[in-house]
Amino acid sequence: MQTKHFVICAVAALLAVGCCKPAGVIKTPVPTRPAGQQDVIGLTAEPIETVHIGVVGLGMRGSEAVNRLAQIPGAEIVALCDLLPDRVEQSQAILAGRGKPAAEGAYSGAQESWRGLCEQENVDLVYICTDWLNHYPIAMYAMDCGKHVAIEVPAALDMDEIWGLIDKSEQTRRHCMMLENCIYDFFEMTTLEMSQRGLFGEIIHAEGAYCHNLDPYWDEYWNNWRLDYNQKHRGDVYPTHGIGPICQVLDIHRGDRMTTLVSMDTKSFNGAKIATNHAGKEVTEFANGDETSTLIRTEKGKTMLIEHDVMTPRPYSRMYQVVGTDGYASKYPIGEYCLRVDKPADKVDARHISDEKVYRDEEMEALQAGYRNVILTPEFEELAKSVGGHGGMDFIMDYRLVYCLHHGLPLDMDVYDLAEWCCVAPLSRVSLEHGSMPVEVPDFTRGAWNRVQGFSYALAEE
Ligand SMILES: NC(=O)c1ccc[n+]([C@@H]2O[C@H](COP(=O)([O-])OP(=O)(O)OC[C@H]3O[C@@H](n4cnc5c(N)ncnc54)[C@H](O)[C@@H]3O)[C@@H](O)[C@H]2O)c1
Repeated sequence: MQTKHFVICAVAALLAVGCCKPAGVIKTPVPTRPAGQQDVIGLTAEPIETVHIGVVGLGMRGSEAVNRLAQIPGAEIVALCDLLPDRVEQSQAILAGRGKPAAEGAYSGAQESWRGLCEQENVDLVYICTDWLNHYPIAMYAMDCGKHVAIEVPAALDMDEIWGLIDKSEQTRRHCMMLENCIYDFFEMTTLEMSQRGLFGEIIHAEGAYCHNLDPYWDEYWNNWRLDYNQKHRGDVYPTHGIGPICQVLDIHRGDRMTTLVSMDTKSFNGAKIATNHAGKEVTEFANGDETSTLIRTEKGKTMLIEHDVMTPRPYSRMYQVVGTDGYASKYPIGEYCLRVDKPADKVDARHISDEKVYRDEEMEALQAGYRNVILTPEFEELAKSVGGHGGMDFIMDYRLVYCLHHGLPLDMDVYDLAEWCCVAPLSRVSLEHGSMPVEVPDFTRGAWNRVQGFSYALAEE
């Protein structure tokens, strides 16, 4: 009797608040691919003997890139550009310090000095490390000039920019790669190998994040671009470090695809205070929540959780947690693997809450040793660690980019990876602005997401 009463009351309550309406999904338009234009899955281009690089944006990240690229065999930096002339000079000094010839450095002093760099005849690759708002116009112009482009994260900020880069890459047949370094971290690369060899069973869920207290950095960005962008934009504005590595494990546009996302954020607790301190006057409006969480579902019924927090003292984390039917991997907060232990039923001790084998510290390293990533020979790993850049992953990223261009191979990341990893920003914003409603994630390949099965690295024949 009581149960029946509860059901009637619950239904009445749901009707009162309108909850019995069928749930809606906000549709996301997909522009029609122009006639004659083809996708760039597996795109290859002419091999390049020495990859001549022009670097645009020579602040904190760009100057580090100059230092790394100067140490990559088969690469040569031939042009440098920054709005600020002294930053070009500083990067010339980095080249000189490494015994490299000076690059063309006439590109500075004006907002669009980068046009000259893109037009420079011998530049093969335009490597873009400016603030976020400048990524798109530079990349588009560079491809129009016939150059390949590599763009720092996030490469694109809204759906128009994402589709613009896809169309431009498809039209010009130039590579358009986002410089997502976190797919080259040692833990992620090893775990990808483990997952591809079936150690965790079928991967069904994964989590990624960018939790990084940016307090020490806010004042360092040119023209306050980063705080300013967060102040004006709601949503997960920096999703790519978190989502990139887990999309590889989940075979996104290589056998599966993201279909829907929902997002929820806190209000801004610290953001407005940080902006107030920075501006020296009271700031009351701050669009970006201190914590933003986004859930994504895939065509094959798998899920992802992506978090963003750059405002609190929460310890640095990219999460990278991978859940399979038979195992689990976690990079943060502690590195560990857990694998199912099959025991005969009469041996199971009912007092134990869980019954899996946990691998940490030396046991974890011993397990990892059996799953060395195919591109990570011991010598190469040592070289990457000695050059550095987030422990070596930045060097591996640059090395792979130059290696693939040199051999005329498909790059490790294509423009659809860029699109999928960047779209979380604009689509999470749409969900947040509509009370956390589900939002459709489009198929950026426009029909080719199931053509390739699983991620693999292209390797030249020896
Ligand atoms: N992958 C990573 O781990 C990682 C780490 C840090 C930063 N980043 C990314 O790198 C990029 C740069 O960040 P940063 O920390 O170096 O910022 P920054 O503020 O230190 O540098 C930006 C530079 O761009 C230059 N610039 C601005 N407008 C320009 C224009 N029109 N033409 C030429 N140069 C122009 C500025 O003068 C400045 O030197 C961002 O996209 C950021 O998200 C990535």
